[in-house]
Amino acid sequence: MIVTLQLIFGYLFWKKPAKNKMSNTERTFIAIKPDGVQRGLVGKIIQRFEEKGFKLVAMKMIQASQAHLEEHYADLSKKPFFPGLVKYMGSGPVVAMVWEGLGVVKTGRVMLGETDPAKSLPGTIRGDYCIHVGRNICHGSDAVDSANKEIKLWFKDAELSDYKSCESDWLYE
Ligand code: RTP
Ligand code: MG
Repeated sequence: MIVTLQLIFGYLFWKKPAKNKMSNTERTFIAIKPDGVQRGLVGKIIQRFEEKGFKLVAMKMIQASQAHLEEHYADLSKKPFFPGLVKYMGSGPVVAMVWEGLGVVKTGRVMLGETDPAKSLPGTIRGDYCIHVGRNICHGSDAVDSANKEIKLWFKDAELSDYKSCESDWLYE
């Protein structure tokens, strides 16, 4: 009887976790592509995310295999540019990173600019530092779900640092 009542009350008062609630611990996967590395833009790109206030939780330099890149860009596998994209991304090391903060997935994409640098506004990374869609120097996850998938693909759990940034009390109300 008591168990039944507990179940009924539990069901009535259980709050569903809000699905789209914004979180200060949202994470995105950002990668500086081989052209960004070769062109010496690693520091400048990292600086933009740091200065904005986002928190770096993981970073490594890695030359990814074809299979890894095919998985990373699996949703584009039917596109005519897919083989060239995989070749370009595997042509040298990339700097893979995880950044954390409120709205970081969406804001990260705004900071990157449009896929085509020609359509990217000055002030964005692609708007300021590159010209051609096939050499657009950085990658950013396009949604929270894809960010979580990409973070799992590129990093082991132990590679993600859990620490409190000394800036956090001055960045968030
Ligand atoms: P990314 O995933 O690299 O952050 O780029 P994105 O979301 O802005 O664009 P997406 O549609 O995911 O395309 C992935 C990458 O493929 C190359 N691309 N080439 N030749 C073309 O028309 C073309 N379109 C896309 C770009 O390198 C793009 O970033
Ligand atoms: Mg994309």
